[in-house]
Amino acid sequence: MTQREQWGTRIGLVLAMAGNAVGLGNFIRFPVQAAQNGGGAFMIPYFIAFILLAIPLMWVEWAIGRNGGKYSHGSLPGMFDVMWRNPIAKYLGVIGLFISTIIMIYYCYIESWTLGFSFFSLTKMYFGETTFESMGSFLRSYQGAGEGFFSNIWTSYIFLLITLAINFYVLKRGLSKGIELLAKVALPALFVFGIILAIRVVFIGTPDPVNKPDWNVENGFAFIWNPNFEALSDSKIWLAAAGQVFFTLSVGMGTLQAYASYLKAKSDIALSGLATASINEFVEVIIGGSIAIPVAVAFFGLTTTTEIAQGGAFNLGFVSMPIIFQKIPFGEFFGFIWFFLLFIAGITSSVAMVQPLISFLKEQFKISHNRATTIVGIFIFISSHFVVFFFKFGFLDELDYWAGTFGLVVVALIEVIIFAWIWGIDKGWAEINRGADIKVPKVFYYIIKYVTPLYLLFILINWTIQEAIPTFLMTKANPENIPYLWGARIFMLVIFFGLCLLVYFGWKQNKPQYNGIIKE
Ligand code: PHE
Repeated sequence: MTQREQWGTRIGLVLAMAGNAVGLGNFIRFPVQAAQNGGGAFMIPYFIAFILLAIPLMWVEWAIGRNGGKYSHGSLPGMFDVMWRNPIAKYLGVIGLFISTIIMIYYCYIESWTLGFSFFSLTKMYFGETTFESMGSFLRSYQGAGEGFFSNIWTSYIFLLITLAINFYVLKRGLSKGIELLAKVALPALFVFGIILAIRVVFIGTPDPVNKPDWNVENGFAFIWNPNFEALSDSKIWLAAAGQVFFTLSVGMGTLQAYASYLKAKSDIALSGLATASINEFVEVIIGGSIAIPVAVAFFGLTTTTEIAQGGAFNLGFVSMPIIFQKIPFGEFFGFIWFFLLFIAGITSSVAMVQPLISFLKEQFKISHNRATTIVGIFIFISSHFVVFFFKFGFLDELDYWAGTFGLVVVALIEVIIFAWIWGIDKGWAEINRGADIKVPKVFYYIIKYVTPLYLLFILINWTIQEAIPTFLMTKANPENIPYLWGARIFMLVIFFGLCLLVYFGWKQNKPQYNGIIKE
Protein backbone atom coordinates (compact mmCIF):
# COMPACT_ATOMS: atom_id res chain seq x y z
CA MET A 1 0.00 0.00 0.00
CA THR A 2 1.53 3.28 -1.02
CA GLN A 3 1.36 6.17 1.38
CA ARG A 4 -1.39 8.66 0.54
CA GLU A 5 -0.51 12.26 -0.06
CA GLN A 6 -0.81 14.72 2.80
CA TRP A 7 -1.23 18.44 3.26
CA GLY A 8 2.05 20.23 3.89
CA THR A 9 0.97 22.68 6.57
CA ARG A 10 -2.13 23.55 8.49
CA ILE A 11 -2.32 27.04 7.08
CA GLY A 12 -1.94 25.55 3.62
CA LEU A 13 -4.83 23.21 4.29
CA VAL A 14 -7.09 25.99 5.57
CA LEU A 15 -6.23 28.16 2.57
CA ALA A 16 -6.88 25.30 0.18
CA MET A 17 -10.23 24.61 1.82
CA ALA A 18 -11.06 28.31 1.76
CA GLY A 19 -10.02 28.42 -1.88
CA ASN A 20 -12.37 25.55 -2.52
CA ALA A 21 -15.26 27.44 -0.94
CA VAL A 22 -14.49 30.97 -2.13
CA GLY A 23 -15.48 31.08 -5.76
CA LEU A 24 -17.52 32.87 -8.36
CA GLY A 25 -20.45 32.31 -6.05
CA ASN A 26 -19.10 34.82 -3.54
CA PHE A 27 -18.72 37.71 -5.96
CA ILE A 28 -21.48 37.37 -8.49
CA ARG A 29 -24.02 34.84 -7.25
CA PHE A 30 -24.35 36.18 -3.72
CA PRO A 31 -25.03 39.86 -4.55
CA VAL A 32 -27.61 38.87 -7.13
CA GLN A 33 -29.37 36.53 -4.73
CA ALA A 34 -29.39 39.15 -1.98
CA ALA A 35 -30.70 41.84 -4.31
CA GLN A 36 -33.40 39.58 -5.74
CA ASN A 37 -34.61 38.26 -2.43
CA GLY A 38 -35.41 41.11 -0.12
CA GLY A 39 -32.01 42.76 0.36
CA GLY A 40 -31.11 42.88 4.03
CA ALA A 41 -33.97 40.54 4.88
CA PHE A 42 -32.24 37.85 2.84
CA MET A 43 -29.49 37.87 5.43
CA ILE A 44 -31.82 36.44 8.06
CA PRO A 45 -32.63 33.13 6.32
CA TYR A 46 -29.08 33.18 5.01
CA PHE A 47 -27.66 33.37 8.49
CA ILE A 48 -30.04 30.75 9.85
CA ALA A 49 -29.13 28.39 7.03
CA PHE A 50 -25.48 29.08 7.77
CA ILE A 51 -25.83 28.05 11.42
CA LEU A 52 -28.26 25.16 11.05
CA LEU A 53 -27.10 23.71 7.76
CA ALA A 54 -23.71 24.90 6.68
CA ILE A 55 -21.70 24.75 9.89
CA PRO A 56 -23.00 21.32 10.94
CA LEU A 57 -22.55 19.98 7.41
CA MET A 58 -19.09 21.42 7.25
CA TRP A 59 -18.08 19.42 10.33
CA VAL A 60 -19.93 16.35 9.11
CA GLU A 61 -18.16 16.52 5.75
CA TRP A 62 -14.72 17.01 7.26
CA ALA A 63 -15.38 14.09 9.60
CA ILE A 64 -16.61 11.84 6.80
CA GLY A 65 -13.61 12.81 4.73
CA ARG A 66 -10.95 12.35 7.39
CA ASN A 67 -12.48 9.04 8.39
CA GLY A 68 -12.60 7.86 4.75
CA GLY A 69 -8.98 8.88 4.34
CA LYS A 70 -7.97 6.42 7.06
CA TYR A 71 -9.11 3.69 4.73
CA SER A 72 -7.53 5.34 1.72
CA HIS A 73 -10.77 6.65 0.30
CA GLY A 74 -10.83 10.12 -1.21
CA SER A 75 -14.33 10.12 -2.69
CA LEU A 76 -17.84 9.56 -1.42
CA PRO A 77 -18.47 6.03 -2.74
CA GLY A 78 -15.68 4.66 -0.56
CA MET A 79 -16.40 6.98 2.34
CA PHE A 80 -20.03 5.89 2.53
CA ASP A 81 -18.98 2.27 2.14
CA VAL A 82 -16.78 2.60 5.22
CA MET A 83 -19.61 3.99 7.29
CA TRP A 84 -22.37 1.78 6.03
CA ARG A 85 -21.45 -1.76 5.02
CA ASN A 86 -24.32 -2.08 2.65
CA PRO A 87 -23.70 -2.63 -1.07
CA ILE A 88 -25.98 0.30 -1.80
CA ALA A 89 -23.90 2.81 0.13
CA LYS A 90 -21.24 3.15 -2.52
CA TYR A 91 -23.84 3.85 -5.20
CA LEU A 92 -25.32 6.60 -3.07
CA GLY A 93 -21.82 7.98 -2.97
CA VAL A 94 -21.78 8.02 -6.76
CA ILE A 95 -24.25 10.91 -6.59
CA GLY A 96 -21.55 12.99 -4.94
CA LEU A 97 -18.90 11.98 -7.44
CA PHE A 98 -21.35 12.78 -10.20
CA ILE A 99 -22.19 16.25 -8.89
CA SER A 100 -18.64 17.49 -8.49
CA THR A 101 -17.76 16.15 -11.94
CA ILE A 102 -20.74 17.80 -13.64
CA ILE A 103 -20.09 21.10 -11.90
CA MET A 104 -16.47 20.95 -13.07
CA ILE A 105 -17.64 20.49 -16.65
CA TYR A 106 -19.51 23.79 -16.75
CA TYR A 107 -17.73 25.80 -14.06
CA CYS A 108 -14.45 25.77 -15.98
CA TYR A 109 -16.18 27.32 -18.94
CA ILE A 110 -17.43 30.24 -16.84
CA GLU A 111 -14.02 30.47 -15.21
CA SER A 112 -12.47 30.78 -18.66
CA TRP A 113 -14.67 33.80 -19.44
CA THR A 114 -13.14 35.57 -16.46
CA LEU A 115 -9.67 34.93 -17.88
CA GLY A 116 -10.83 36.17 -21.27
CA PHE A 117 -12.37 39.30 -19.79
CA SER A 118 -9.21 40.02 -17.75
CA PHE A 119 -7.39 40.12 -21.04
CA PHE A 120 -10.10 42.20 -22.75
CA SER A 121 -9.93 44.70 -19.88
CA LEU A 122 -6.19 45.20 -20.10
CA THR A 123 -6.35 45.57 -23.86
CA LYS A 124 -9.51 47.73 -23.61
CA MET A 125 -11.20 45.48 -26.10
CA TYR A 126 -14.73 46.14 -24.91
CA PHE A 127 -14.11 49.85 -24.45
CA GLY A 128 -16.62 51.53 -26.69
CA GLU A 129 -19.45 49.13 -25.79
CA THR A 130 -21.04 51.53 -23.36
CA THR A 131 -24.70 50.53 -23.38
CA PHE A 132 -26.37 47.48 -21.90
CA GLU A 133 -27.33 46.36 -25.40
CA SER A 134 -23.92 46.61 -26.92
CA MET A 135 -22.02 45.21 -23.91
CA GLY A 136 -24.63 42.45 -23.66
CA SER A 137 -24.10 41.56 -27.27
CA PHE A 138 -20.33 41.64 -26.76
CA LEU A 139 -20.78 39.00 -24.05
CA ARG A 140 -23.25 36.92 -26.02
CA SER A 141 -21.11 36.92 -29.12
CA TYR A 142 -18.20 35.79 -26.97
CA GLN A 143 -20.35 32.95 -25.65
CA GLY A 144 -21.40 32.02 -29.16
CA ALA A 145 -24.96 32.92 -28.28
CA GLY A 146 -25.54 35.89 -30.56
CA GLU A 147 -24.20 38.34 -33.08
CA GLY A 148 -21.76 41.06 -32.10
CA PHE A 149 -18.13 41.77 -31.54
CA PHE A 150 -16.93 38.18 -31.98
CA SER A 151 -17.95 36.47 -35.16
CA ASN A 152 -17.31 32.97 -33.82
CA ILE A 153 -16.76 30.93 -30.70
CA TRP A 154 -13.04 30.32 -31.14
CA THR A 155 -11.78 33.11 -28.90
CA SER A 156 -13.83 31.70 -26.11
CA TYR A 157 -12.68 28.19 -26.95
CA ILE A 158 -9.03 29.21 -26.73
CA PHE A 159 -9.54 30.73 -23.27
CA LEU A 160 -11.23 27.51 -22.21
CA LEU A 161 -8.23 25.51 -23.40
CA ILE A 162 -5.88 27.77 -21.47
CA THR A 163 -8.05 27.49 -18.36
CA LEU A 164 -8.21 23.71 -18.55
CA ALA A 165 -4.48 23.53 -19.14
CA ILE A 166 -3.74 25.60 -16.04
CA ASN A 167 -6.17 23.56 -13.94
CA PHE A 168 -4.68 20.25 -14.94
CA TYR A 169 -1.15 21.53 -14.63
CA VAL A 170 -1.87 22.37 -10.98
CA LEU A 171 -3.61 19.04 -10.45
CA LYS A 172 -0.72 17.11 -11.98
CA ARG A 173 1.66 18.62 -9.46
CA GLY A 174 -0.36 16.94 -6.76
CA LEU A 175 -1.84 17.95 -3.48
CA SER A 176 0.76 19.91 -1.60
CA LYS A 177 2.94 21.02 -4.53
CA GLY A 178 -0.07 21.89 -6.67
CA ILE A 179 -3.31 22.70 -4.92
CA GLU A 180 -1.80 23.84 -1.64
CA LEU A 181 0.84 26.00 -3.27
CA LEU A 182 -1.75 27.56 -5.55
CA ALA A 183 -3.95 28.41 -2.57
CA LYS A 184 -1.05 29.93 -0.65
CA VAL A 185 -0.37 32.34 -3.48
CA ALA A 186 -3.89 32.86 -4.78
CA LEU A 187 -5.84 33.49 -1.59
CA PRO A 188 -3.71 36.39 -0.33
CA ALA A 189 -3.84 37.88 -3.83
CA LEU A 190 -7.59 37.47 -3.84
CA PHE A 191 -7.85 39.32 -0.54
CA VAL A 192 -5.74 42.19 -1.77
CA PHE A 193 -7.66 42.49 -5.05
CA GLY A 194 -11.01 42.24 -3.30
CA ILE A 195 -10.12 44.89 -0.77
CA ILE A 196 -8.76 47.25 -3.45
CA LEU A 197 -12.04 46.95 -5.36
CA ALA A 198 -14.24 47.32 -2.30
CA ILE A 199 -12.36 50.46 -1.24
CA ARG A 200 -12.58 51.84 -4.75
CA VAL A 201 -16.35 51.31 -4.65
CA VAL A 202 -16.75 53.02 -1.29
CA PHE A 203 -15.00 56.09 -2.69
CA ILE A 204 -17.23 56.26 -5.76
CA GLY A 205 -19.58 58.56 -3.84
CA THR A 206 -22.14 60.20 -6.10
CA PRO A 207 -20.89 60.10 -9.68
CA ASP A 208 -23.41 62.67 -10.97
CA PRO A 209 -24.42 64.87 -8.01
CA VAL A 210 -26.22 67.47 -10.09
CA ASN A 211 -28.57 65.34 -12.15
CA LYS A 212 -28.73 62.11 -10.18
CA PRO A 213 -28.14 62.86 -6.52
CA ASP A 214 -29.83 59.60 -5.46
CA TRP A 215 -27.53 57.50 -7.51
CA ASN A 216 -24.82 57.05 -4.96
CA VAL A 217 -22.92 54.36 -3.22
CA GLU A 218 -24.68 54.87 0.15
CA ASN A 219 -27.97 54.00 -1.51
CA GLY A 220 -26.18 51.07 -3.07
CA PHE A 221 -25.27 49.68 0.32
CA ALA A 222 -28.75 50.47 1.58
CA PHE A 223 -30.19 48.47 -1.31
CA ILE A 224 -28.30 45.37 -0.23
CA TRP A 225 -28.65 45.89 3.51
CA ASN A 226 -32.04 47.48 4.25
CA PRO A 227 -34.20 44.62 5.37
CA ASN A 228 -37.52 44.13 3.68
CA PHE A 229 -39.10 42.00 6.38
CA GLU A 230 -42.25 41.34 4.40
CA ALA A 231 -40.20 39.18 2.08
CA LEU A 232 -39.57 36.76 4.96
CA SER A 233 -43.02 35.26 4.68
CA ASP A 234 -42.21 34.05 1.19
CA SER A 235 -40.80 30.53 1.27
CA LYS A 236 -38.90 31.26 -1.92
CA ILE A 237 -36.37 33.42 -0.15
CA TRP A 238 -35.72 30.71 2.45
CA LEU A 239 -34.99 28.29 -0.34
CA ALA A 240 -32.83 30.77 -2.21
CA ALA A 241 -30.85 31.50 0.96
CA ALA A 242 -30.24 27.82 1.63
CA GLY A 243 -29.24 27.30 -2.01
CA GLN A 244 -26.73 30.11 -1.81
CA VAL A 245 -25.25 28.87 1.46
CA PHE A 246 -24.76 25.43 -0.06
CA PHE A 247 -23.21 26.61 -3.24
CA THR A 248 -20.87 29.12 -1.69
CA LEU A 249 -19.54 26.78 1.00
CA SER A 250 -19.21 23.89 -1.47
CA VAL A 251 -21.19 21.56 0.78
CA GLY A 252 -23.08 18.59 -0.62
CA MET A 253 -20.68 17.72 -3.39
CA GLY A 254 -17.84 15.69 -2.02
CA THR A 255 -15.03 18.17 -2.53
CA LEU A 256 -14.57 19.16 1.10
CA GLN A 257 -14.58 15.48 2.01
CA ALA A 258 -11.95 14.77 -0.62
CA TYR A 259 -9.68 17.48 0.77
CA ALA A 260 -10.31 16.32 4.34
CA SER A 261 -9.36 12.75 3.43
CA TYR A 262 -5.76 13.90 3.20
CA LEU A 263 -5.68 14.95 6.83
CA LYS A 264 -3.91 12.94 9.48
CA ALA A 265 -6.32 10.88 11.54
CA LYS A 266 -5.76 12.99 14.63
CA SER A 267 -5.57 16.46 13.21
CA ASP A 268 -8.16 19.00 14.20
CA ILE A 269 -11.21 19.45 12.03
CA ALA A 270 -13.50 21.44 14.33
CA LEU A 271 -11.50 24.66 14.35
CA SER A 272 -10.16 24.34 10.82
CA GLY A 273 -13.66 23.76 9.46
CA LEU A 274 -14.99 26.77 11.29
CA ALA A 275 -12.06 28.91 10.14
CA THR A 276 -12.69 27.95 6.53
CA ALA A 277 -16.38 28.74 6.75
CA SER A 278 -15.63 32.09 8.39
CA ILE A 279 -13.14 33.08 5.70
CA ASN A 280 -15.71 32.25 3.07
CA GLU A 281 -18.38 34.32 4.79
CA PHE A 282 -16.07 37.28 5.21
CA VAL A 283 -15.20 37.21 1.54
CA GLU A 284 -18.81 36.74 0.52
CA VAL A 285 -20.71 39.12 2.76
CA ILE A 286 -18.16 41.83 3.40
CA ILE A 287 -16.13 41.91 0.19
CA GLY A 288 -18.54 40.33 -2.30
CA GLY A 289 -21.45 42.41 -0.97
CA SER A 290 -19.48 45.65 -1.32
CA ILE A 291 -18.58 45.54 -4.97
CA ALA A 292 -20.90 44.78 -7.85
CA ILE A 293 -24.30 45.88 -6.49
CA PRO A 294 -23.37 49.11 -4.65
CA VAL A 295 -21.39 50.33 -7.62
CA ALA A 296 -24.24 49.51 -9.99
CA VAL A 297 -26.63 51.62 -7.90
CA ALA A 298 -24.17 54.52 -7.97
CA PHE A 299 -23.94 54.45 -11.74
CA PHE A 300 -27.32 53.21 -12.89
CA GLY A 301 -29.75 53.91 -10.04
CA LEU A 302 -32.00 51.53 -8.16
CA THR A 303 -34.48 50.63 -10.87
CA THR A 304 -31.88 49.62 -13.39
CA THR A 305 -29.85 47.76 -10.78
CA THR A 306 -32.92 45.72 -9.88
CA GLU A 307 -33.27 44.85 -13.54
CA ILE A 308 -29.60 43.94 -13.76
CA ALA A 309 -29.97 41.64 -10.77
CA GLN A 310 -33.05 40.05 -12.32
CA GLY A 311 -30.91 39.40 -15.38
CA GLY A 312 -28.71 37.13 -13.26
CA ALA A 313 -25.14 36.77 -12.15
CA PHE A 314 -23.53 36.89 -15.60
CA ASN A 315 -25.33 40.09 -16.41
CA LEU A 316 -24.03 41.69 -13.25
CA GLY A 317 -20.47 40.44 -13.56
CA PHE A 318 -19.87 40.58 -17.30
CA VAL A 319 -22.13 43.37 -18.56
CA SER A 320 -22.78 45.88 -15.81
CA MET A 321 -19.22 45.87 -14.44
CA PRO A 322 -17.48 46.39 -17.82
CA ILE A 323 -19.73 49.38 -18.54
CA ILE A 324 -18.73 50.88 -15.21
CA PHE A 325 -15.02 50.30 -15.86
CA GLN A 326 -15.37 52.48 -18.91
CA LYS A 327 -16.66 55.31 -16.73
CA ILE A 328 -13.92 55.43 -14.10
CA PRO A 329 -10.27 56.50 -14.38
CA PHE A 330 -7.89 53.56 -14.87
CA GLY A 331 -10.89 51.44 -15.72
CA GLU A 332 -8.80 48.97 -17.65
CA PHE A 333 -6.76 48.36 -14.53
CA PHE A 334 -9.78 47.93 -12.25
CA GLY A 335 -11.45 45.78 -14.90
CA PHE A 336 -8.43 43.54 -14.94
CA ILE A 337 -8.43 43.30 -11.15
CA TRP A 338 -12.12 42.41 -11.08
CA PHE A 339 -11.95 39.66 -13.67
CA PHE A 340 -8.67 38.31 -12.48
CA LEU A 341 -10.06 38.19 -8.96
CA LEU A 342 -12.90 36.10 -10.33
CA PHE A 343 -10.42 33.89 -12.12
CA ILE A 344 -8.42 33.28 -8.96
CA ALA A 345 -11.57 32.60 -7.00
CA GLY A 346 -12.69 30.22 -9.74
CA ILE A 347 -9.53 28.21 -10.18
CA THR A 348 -9.04 27.44 -6.50
CA SER A 349 -12.59 26.02 -6.62
CA SER A 350 -12.34 24.13 -9.87
CA VAL A 351 -9.21 22.21 -8.90
CA ALA A 352 -11.26 20.93 -5.96
CA MET A 353 -14.07 19.71 -8.14
CA VAL A 354 -12.07 17.04 -9.92
CA GLN A 355 -10.14 15.91 -6.88
CA PRO A 356 -12.76 13.29 -5.88
CA LEU A 357 -12.71 11.68 -9.33
CA ILE A 358 -8.92 11.66 -9.51
CA SER A 359 -8.65 10.11 -6.04
CA PHE A 360 -11.28 7.56 -6.97
CA LEU A 361 -9.41 6.36 -10.05
CA LYS A 362 -6.12 6.21 -8.20
CA GLU A 363 -7.48 4.32 -5.27
CA GLN A 364 -9.86 1.95 -6.95
CA PHE A 365 -7.89 1.11 -10.06
CA LYS A 366 -4.41 1.55 -8.63
CA ILE A 367 -3.24 3.82 -11.39
CA SER A 368 -0.62 6.49 -10.95
CA HIS A 369 -1.45 10.08 -10.13
CA ASN A 370 -0.25 11.25 -13.52
CA ARG A 371 -2.31 8.74 -15.34
CA ALA A 372 -5.47 9.46 -13.35
CA THR A 373 -5.08 13.20 -13.88
CA THR A 374 -4.55 12.74 -17.59
CA ILE A 375 -7.61 10.52 -17.96
CA VAL A 376 -9.80 12.94 -16.04
CA GLY A 377 -8.35 15.88 -17.98
CA ILE A 378 -9.20 14.30 -21.30
CA PHE A 379 -12.66 13.41 -20.09
CA ILE A 380 -13.40 16.94 -18.85
CA PHE A 381 -11.98 18.43 -22.03
CA ILE A 382 -14.22 16.32 -24.23
CA SER A 383 -17.30 16.85 -22.09
CA SER A 384 -16.90 20.60 -21.99
CA HIS A 385 -17.54 20.76 -25.74
CA PHE A 386 -21.21 20.13 -25.11
CA VAL A 387 -21.34 23.05 -22.71
CA VAL A 388 -19.51 25.37 -25.10
CA PHE A 389 -21.36 24.53 -28.27
CA PHE A 390 -24.83 24.15 -26.80
CA PHE A 391 -24.48 27.04 -24.40
CA LYS A 392 -27.05 29.17 -26.17
CA PHE A 393 -29.66 26.44 -25.85
CA GLY A 394 -29.53 26.44 -22.08
CA PHE A 395 -27.33 23.36 -21.72
CA LEU A 396 -25.21 24.90 -18.98
CA ASP A 397 -28.24 26.06 -16.99
CA GLU A 398 -29.73 22.60 -17.08
CA LEU A 399 -26.56 21.07 -15.62
CA ASP A 400 -26.37 23.86 -13.08
CA TYR A 401 -29.90 23.33 -11.92
CA TRP A 402 -29.79 19.56 -11.39
CA ALA A 403 -26.21 19.17 -10.26
CA GLY A 404 -25.35 22.63 -8.92
CA THR A 405 -28.54 23.36 -7.02
CA PHE A 406 -30.94 20.48 -6.52
CA GLY A 407 -28.33 17.75 -6.28
CA LEU A 408 -26.41 19.41 -3.47
CA VAL A 409 -29.32 19.11 -1.11
CA VAL A 410 -29.87 15.48 -2.09
CA VAL A 411 -26.26 14.59 -1.30
CA ALA A 412 -26.32 16.58 1.93
CA LEU A 413 -29.44 14.80 3.10
CA ILE A 414 -28.03 11.37 2.27
CA GLU A 415 -24.75 12.07 3.98
CA VAL A 416 -26.23 13.48 7.15
CA ILE A 417 -28.53 10.46 7.45
CA ILE A 418 -25.67 8.04 6.92
CA PHE A 419 -23.55 9.99 9.37
CA ALA A 420 -26.02 10.60 12.19
CA TRP A 421 -28.41 7.69 11.87
CA ILE A 422 -26.68 4.78 10.18
CA TRP A 423 -23.12 5.22 11.34
CA GLY A 424 -24.59 6.75 14.47
CA ILE A 425 -24.40 10.22 15.93
CA ASP A 426 -22.26 9.08 18.87
CA LYS A 427 -19.55 7.75 16.61
CA GLY A 428 -19.97 10.80 14.44
CA TRP A 429 -19.73 13.19 17.34
CA ALA A 430 -16.59 11.47 18.59
CA GLU A 431 -15.11 11.75 15.12
CA ILE A 432 -15.79 15.49 14.92
CA ASN A 433 -14.22 16.02 18.32
CA ARG A 434 -11.17 13.83 17.81
CA GLY A 435 -8.12 16.08 17.93
CA ALA A 436 -10.34 19.15 18.07
CA ASP A 437 -8.73 22.43 19.02
CA ILE A 438 -12.04 23.91 20.14
CA LYS A 439 -14.88 22.48 22.09
CA VAL A 440 -17.81 22.10 19.75
CA PRO A 441 -20.97 23.17 21.62
CA LYS A 442 -23.08 20.16 22.52
CA VAL A 443 -26.18 21.64 20.89
CA PHE A 444 -24.63 20.74 17.55
CA TYR A 445 -24.96 17.11 18.53
CA TYR A 446 -28.73 17.58 18.43
CA ILE A 447 -28.68 19.92 15.48
CA ILE A 448 -26.78 17.36 13.41
CA LYS A 449 -29.05 14.57 14.52
CA TYR A 450 -32.43 16.27 14.12
CA VAL A 451 -32.46 19.81 12.86
CA THR A 452 -30.17 19.55 9.85
CA PRO A 453 -31.85 16.48 8.34
CA LEU A 454 -35.34 17.89 8.87
CA TYR A 455 -34.37 21.26 7.50
CA LEU A 456 -32.88 19.56 4.44
CA LEU A 457 -35.95 17.46 3.98
CA PHE A 458 -38.12 20.56 4.16
CA ILE A 459 -36.01 22.28 1.50
CA LEU A 460 -35.99 19.25 -0.72
CA ILE A 461 -39.76 18.81 -0.61
CA ASN A 462 -40.42 22.48 -1.27
CA TRP A 463 -37.91 22.63 -4.06
CA THR A 464 -39.35 19.56 -5.67
CA ILE A 465 -42.81 21.04 -5.70
CA GLN A 466 -42.00 24.63 -6.52
CA GLU A 467 -39.11 24.23 -8.92
CA ALA A 468 -37.94 20.76 -9.75
CA ILE A 469 -41.22 19.50 -11.18
CA PRO A 470 -41.83 22.58 -13.37
CA THR A 471 -38.17 22.53 -14.44
CA PHE A 472 -38.41 18.85 -15.25
CA LEU A 473 -41.57 19.39 -17.28
CA MET A 474 -39.89 22.37 -18.95
CA THR A 475 -42.99 24.48 -18.50
CA LYS A 476 -41.02 27.68 -18.88
CA ALA A 477 -38.45 26.47 -21.38
CA ASN A 478 -38.06 28.00 -24.79
CA PRO A 479 -39.47 25.35 -27.20
CA GLU A 480 -36.43 25.65 -29.40
CA ASN A 481 -34.22 24.58 -26.48
CA ILE A 482 -36.19 21.50 -25.49
CA PRO A 483 -34.19 18.97 -27.54
CA TYR A 484 -30.97 20.34 -26.06
CA LEU A 485 -32.32 20.23 -22.54
CA TRP A 486 -33.17 16.58 -23.07
CA GLY A 487 -29.70 16.22 -24.49
CA ALA A 488 -28.31 17.66 -21.26
CA ARG A 489 -30.31 15.15 -19.22
CA ILE A 490 -29.15 12.23 -21.31
CA PHE A 491 -25.61 13.54 -20.99
CA MET A 492 -25.99 13.56 -17.20
CA LEU A 493 -27.53 10.09 -17.13
CA VAL A 494 -24.71 8.68 -19.23
CA ILE A 495 -22.14 10.14 -16.86
CA PHE A 496 -24.05 8.94 -13.85
CA PHE A 497 -24.31 5.36 -15.07
CA GLY A 498 -20.75 5.48 -16.28
CA LEU A 499 -19.67 6.32 -12.75
CA CYS A 500 -21.86 3.55 -11.33
CA LEU A 501 -20.12 1.09 -13.62
CA LEU A 502 -16.75 2.38 -12.55
CA VAL A 503 -17.71 1.85 -8.94
CA TYR A 504 -18.96 -1.63 -9.71
CA PHE A 505 -15.75 -2.65 -11.47
CA GLY A 506 -13.61 -0.70 -9.06
CA TRP A 507 -14.96 -2.72 -6.16
CA LYS A 508 -14.62 -5.98 -8.05
CA GLN A 509 -11.07 -5.26 -8.85
CA ASN A 510 -10.02 -3.94 -5.53
CA LYS A 511 -12.31 -5.00 -2.75
CA PRO A 512 -11.63 -2.71 0.19
CA GLN A 513 -10.48 -4.38 3.38
CA TYR A 514 -11.79 -2.72 6.45
CA ASN A 515 -10.40 -5.01 9.08
CA GLY A 516 -7.16 -3.24 9.60
CA ILE A 517 -6.92 0.49 9.32
CA ILE A 518 -4.61 1.19 6.47
CA LYS A 519 -3.23 4.53 7.53
CA GLU A 520 -3.13 6.11 10.95
N1 PHE B 1 -18.14 27.29 -3.64
C1 PHE B 1 -17.78 27.64 -4.96
C2 PHE B 1 -18.26 29.04 -5.29
O1 PHE B 1 -18.71 29.76 -4.45
C3 PHE B 1 -18.34 26.70 -5.97
C4 PHE B 1 -17.93 25.28 -5.86
C5 PHE B 1 -18.77 24.34 -6.28
C6 PHE B 1 -16.70 24.88 -5.36
C7 PHE B 1 -18.43 23.00 -6.20
C8 PHE B 1 -16.33 23.54 -5.25
C9 PHE B 1 -17.22 22.61 -5.66
O2 PHE B 1 -18.18 29.48 -6.41
